[in-house]
Amino acid sequence: MVSTDHGDLYLHPDRNLAMELVRATEAAAIRAVPFIGMGDKNAADKAAVDAMRKFLGTVNFDGVVVIGEGEKDKAPMLFNGEHVGNGRGPACDIAVDPIDGTSLTAAGRQNALSMIAVADRGTMLDASMVFYMDKIVTSAEGIGVVDIRQPIGENIRALAKALGKPVSEMTVAVLDRPRHAQLIEDIRAAGAGTRLMLDGDVAGGINAARHSTRIDMCVGTGGSPEGVATACAIKALGGLIQGILHPGTDEERQKGLDAGLKFDHVYDADTLVRSDNTFFVATGVTDGQLVDGVRRMGPIIRTESIVLRARSGTMRRVIAEHSADKWLDND
Ligand code: FBP
Repeated sequence: MVSTDHGDLYLHPDRNLAMELVRATEAAAIRAVPFIGMGDKNAADKAAVDAMRKFLGTVNFDGVVVIGEGEKDKAPMLFNGEHVGNGRGPACDIAVDPIDGTSLTAAGRQNALSMIAVADRGTMLDASMVFYMDKIVTSAEGIGVVDIRQPIGENIRALAKALGKPVSEMTVAVLDRPRHAQLIEDIRAAGAGTRLMLDGDVAGGINAARHSTRIDMCVGTGGSPEGVATACAIKALGGLIQGILHPGTDEERQKGLDAGLKFDHVYDADTLVRSDNTFFVATGVTDGQLVDGVRRMGPIIRTESIVLRARSGTMRRVIAEHSADKWLDND
């Protein structure tokens, strides 16, 4: 139905928006396929960016990229501040990561995905000037129970109690980085197991918030843009996310202060994204725990995506079968 009502539809992201946006993550994932395992992460990223940008241009919304591929000078596509969409729909902030896991893609490893998060205009925290954020993500049972400022052992014990299971059955996802050596040791000393991730803490956070996975908590220092995107997903899943900005240099800290960011401050889902009207879509590039990667099945290209909408609290899985011929013709 074509609406002529310029009321709510043109003010807030509409429920159909996410189903439109999934076309852009599907396209980015499909276009990244020739680069899987080819060792060139920039080429993979560029193919995904180009495809996502092209599809975003056809979507009925007026988006401003708050979290993109970097500053204008560094990345010509999907840069922070760029307008995307056909400009005719609701005014939104958009966070894009055409590939979360570019190194995974280049190496041919699991867990790379393409994602987009959307919220009402002016509501996403623009933390782009501070690269890293300390984060903790759990399911809703962690709300009022877990506190990022507490030692990890205490948080694990408190969450285990809230989940009604022994600490020995707890699994904590952490990016496998030298900076996390002590954290990993502390998790194991508390009696919980670790799930070490090579990359991709957005998927790690989403898996921690969901009940049907083996991950109970995702912790550690990762990208702050990824933290804001994860918050959009957490709003739909009903979990907990807390983040503290982690500047690497004095210059980064000063830039953050100049932009009004707070340090030594716990951001939560509502301050990372000041809207309850969020969407999150992701399509698997390579196979992962959250979504399957792109598969070629004869004349068909199969994609698997998730579509989350905070207002309704839904997470849908979208399996699409694309005609491979159309994609080959569609360059
Ligand atoms: P990209 O693929 O976009 O580079 O991000 C991968 C990623 O693992 C994120 O999921 C994570 O938040 C960030 O990098 C961690 O940064 P670093 O690799 O510097 O530890």
